[in-house]
Amino acid sequence: MEVLLESGGDRVALVRINRPEARNALNSAMRGQLARIFADLAGNDEIRCVVLTGTEKVFAAGADIKAMADAQPVDMMLRASERDWALIKDFPKPLIAAVNGFALGGGCELAMHADMIIAGEGAKFAQPEIKVGIIPGAGGTQRLLRAVGKFKAMKILLTGEMVSAQEAEAMGLVTEVVPDTEVLDRALELARSIALLPPIAARKIKELVLQGGDLPLDAALVMERHAFQLMFGTEDQKEGMHAFLDKRVPNFKGL
Ligand code: CAA
Repeated sequence: MEVLLESGGDRVALVRINRPEARNALNSAMRGQLARIFADLAGNDEIRCVVLTGTEKVFAAGADIKAMADAQPVDMMLRASERDWALIKDFPKPLIAAVNGFALGGGCELAMHADMIIAGEGAKFAQPEIKVGIIPGAGGTQRLLRAVGKFKAMKILLTGEMVSAQEAEAMGLVTEVVPDTEVLDRALELARSIALLPPIAARKIKELVLQGGDLPLDAALVMERHAFQLMFGTEDQKEGMHAFLDKRVPNFKGL
């Protein structure tokens, strides 16, 4: 298996892409492994937050070019990789990408499926598809546009050039930049702190930010209001507010 599921401790799962000899390039089998892992984690009540990482030098160098160099459009259609990506896109729990080294093409797109990106100082991001005669195929044009705006997105997409972690942070593609050796620890620390918080609220926040962002503001605000009201039907709302009033640490059960 090239995609490994490990414990991140304290209700956190760690998903690791491990095919360093091919710079963690994602082939169909790996996309399937990722999809199955995310489907399982979505249904696992013990897990409240997930960290996705690669190896020391590479997060992922994109789709496997060897597996598609001679493909025809119908081959690509029948591969239906969007079905695998959908399991990550629709993953309902907070997902943090811990990026060391290269996040290129489908690797950058994978990182952009996360809700936060913690990058090492030496990390590099790019959508280099144009250099091999194609365009991003896993949401790169759209997620990058939404993350960094038209003028930065256009440069990255049209040139295929790499962007440093610091530049990526300045344009809003990266949440935090930390020393390379601290990336995974920082991502896990963040994940464990989120895992202590009420998971239904976390799930609703994720849903609202992702879905609401593409709706007209008034419609998104109605969605938010309904979700806000729903929170008052959760045990965790009662626990959170009474713990505050009682001056004690809350114990959120996910109910
Ligand atoms: N697909 C297949 N194999 C890849 C690969 C990829 N995306 N990236 C690297 N590899 C392989 C290389 O072919 C090489 O294999 P061999 O040992 O068999 O020759 C091995 O990994 C090591 O690669 P390099 O010698 O190039 O390693 P490096 O450390 O010098 O460079 C790199 C690393 C900068 C990541 C460079 O490999 C690179 O630029 N890779 C391609 C990046 C790219 O173009 N990604 C976009 C793919 S298209 C896509 O992702 C479509 C989409 O939207 C879903």
